[in-house]
Amino acid sequence: MGRSGAGKTSMRSLIFANYSASDTRRLGATIDVEHSTVQFMGDLGLNIWDCGGQHKYLDNYLNEQKESIFGNVEVLIFVFDLETTNKDREYTLYDECLLNLAQYSRDAKVYCLVHKMDKILDSDQKAAMVETYKKALNKRSDMFQPGVYGTSIWDHTLYQAWSQIVYALVPNMATIKRHLSNFCRLTDAAEVVLFERATFLVVCCTSGDEDEPQLEKYMTISQGIKHYRNTCTEQTSPFRSVHIRTRAYSLFVEPFTKSTYILVITADPEIEPAVTKANIDAARSHFA
Ligand code: GTP
Repeated sequence: MGRSGAGKTSMRSLIFANYSASDTRRLGATIDVEHSTVQFMGDLGLNIWDCGGQHKYLDNYLNEQKESIFGNVEVLIFVFDLETTNKDREYTLYDECLLNLAQYSRDAKVYCLVHKMDKILDSDQKAAMVETYKKALNKRSDMFQPGVYGTSIWDHTLYQAWSQIVYALVPNMATIKRHLSNFCRLTDAAEVVLFERATFLVVCCTSGDEDEPQLEKYMTISQGIKHYRNTCTEQTSPFRSVHIRTRAYSLFVEPFTKSTYILVITADPEIEPAVTKANIDAARSHFA
């Protein structure tokens, strides 16, 4: 949900339809609501409703169609356009959406994306802008505690935000995380990450030491791999896996279960790549 031109269809097309950022310049305005279903993590079906943001449609969503638009919502993603000339109008729309959500889908999760962050160059200013939105949105969100992220289709931030959204949606995430940590410990890996197969969003990550896993780094790797995979497809040479070995580390990206790829990074030069590969092969049936 969000005003026309905020960037809703662009982000959907990048993540779920392999568009590049520049392809989105050709997108026209969404007519009414575009429904799509994507198969995610095997048998999880995501029903995505991309609600066209032109005035005439918004009026309908908030009046005649409110029960069908706001009923049975699992997640509302509201896209704020950083370049808006009328911030108050965006906040008013947000308020109205939350009122309806409170009535028809009280348990829904809410995420607010402060979008087109590439328009601000200075990183301190970017952080300050997200903070300003966060404060304003928390004040007006009442029972919903929105996750607020700054995003842009031109860098990893969009994938980072969507990975957090997806993380909250996958039902057995705690179990997956526990098994992944065990795998990381038993194989002496430095870092292990699960990517969803179709979108290459980060589903779950863990690291062998006390440090927090570095989501930003994984998103950069994920984007690189996705780009490489698209290039392979264009060359009609199917992408299978990636292995990079330097003096400091070995990195593997391998198909894992039917809905995931696994990234394993080892930093111990004593661990032969063939051993890591054998460990990945051995763990596959456990995670399937
Ligand atoms: P409606 O379908 O009318 O509701 O609009 P929308 O919210 O779906 O907007 P859309 O995705 O069609 O994007 C509008 C324009 O914004 C396109 O020209 C995109 O290229 C551009 N755009 C989308 N995301 C970004 C971004 O992160 N940064 C910049 N600079 N432009 C973006």
